[in-house]
Amino acid sequence: MAIPPANKDKKFLRLADRLSYVPTYIFAKLDAEKQELQKKNIDVIDLSLGSPDLPSPGVVIDECIKSLKDPTNYRYPPFRGQTKFKEAAADWMKRRFSIELNPESEILPLSGSKEGITHLALAMINPGDITIVPSPYYPVHARGTLLAGGQIHELPLLGKNKFLPELESIPKEILDKAKLFFISFPNNPTGAICDFTFLEKITRLCIKHEIVLVSDLAYSELTFDNFVASSILQVKGAKDIAVEFHTLSKTYSMAGWRIAFVAGNKDVINALYEIKTNTDYGVCNIVQSASVQAFSIPFSEHKKTARIYQERRDVMLQKLIKLGWNIPKPGGAMYIWLPVPKKYKTSFDFSHDLLHKAHVATIPGGSFGTYGEGYVRIALVDKKERLALAVDRMEKAGLVYQS
Ligand SMILES: Cc1ncc(COP(=O)(O)O)c(C=O)c1O
Repeated sequence: MAIPPANKDKKFLRLADRLSYVPTYIFAKLDAEKQELQKKNIDVIDLSLGSPDLPSPGVVIDECIKSLKDPTNYRYPPFRGQTKFKEAAADWMKRRFSIELNPESEILPLSGSKEGITHLALAMINPGDITIVPSPYYPVHARGTLLAGGQIHELPLLGKNKFLPELESIPKEILDKAKLFFISFPNNPTGAICDFTFLEKITRLCIKHEIVLVSDLAYSELTFDNFVASSILQVKGAKDIAVEFHTLSKTYSMAGWRIAFVAGNKDVINALYEIKTNTDYGVCNIVQSASVQAFSIPFSEHKKTARIYQERRDVMLQKLIKLGWNIPKPGGAMYIWLPVPKKYKTSFDFSHDLLHKAHVATIPGGSFGTYGEGYVRIALVDKKERLALAVDRMEKAGLVYQS
């Protein structure tokens, strides 16, 4: 599992121990194989990474071009981020969730949520500390803690519980020791959503046990069938213990721009800021300036984006049902969490066959933690027609569900 040092005999190649704490991505091998196929001009339908295929908003691109010509943007950005970005983000949170936030102390721009989440763990976790992570998980929720020398407690998300965690199952000694507790609904990879009562319950638990509650709300606007996601910061008292990560990668199809923000408890945000002042200068000025425009896009536009993913979900599910699968409809995010047919020993084996026999790239569920095994994740990041073609190819290759 651990990354082997290239050559232990050579001092300059002895890697930091922390690199051995994080497992190698089991997807890495399949990704290399996917690239080999693509080099041979094989048409691989790539449904592996959750990297949106839709265009970034025109208003953001226009502002970016303008900002590129503004020489004040060529200097280092302010450490704590541009005031206009933070004000626009706070205003977005107010319009969307009716939450009041101080832009200076309760908002911090990030070079993507991934960066912020990892740095938050480095700011909060000492060797031996525990982070509670619902599993399957977006890998970064675990990796920051592991890099910091901490341990994760995997809380199972099971199909029989609609992929929601059973909070009562967490042992008291884990709750007493835990420093961080991650939640992320709509969920990657399962597509599960949670209601407000769940958010209230988990907030109470974290307040009681003095745990920092970290909500990763990457898919707040990508919800289906008229469901509206809530923010943890809408729960009374949550700001005492919670922070929430919001990214522009998914809602605005801006994954390549690398911009997000964290909102919530100012002490936790300060801790993250302390780490960041030691590792970077903040988000590129041009990207921050351009992103302000994204926040002014009417929410009705996000509904249109969500509808595109919902249609993709429906097209794929209908066809998968014909191949024997019986899976509940994901309530949000941009994935289908597909059970592996019984004849396969591991999710990797099934993903491998999907790639080589159907030329469809997916991610094996085992990449998402212990409780991801037994599934593969399909990202809905191509047009409906291509998604339908992917399932047709599966049928042709005999990759159907047999229990
Ligand atoms: C739950 C979740 N959080 C965060 C991210 C990454 O966000 P960013 O692009 O802002 O780093 C992803 C990407 O897939 C995700 O699924």
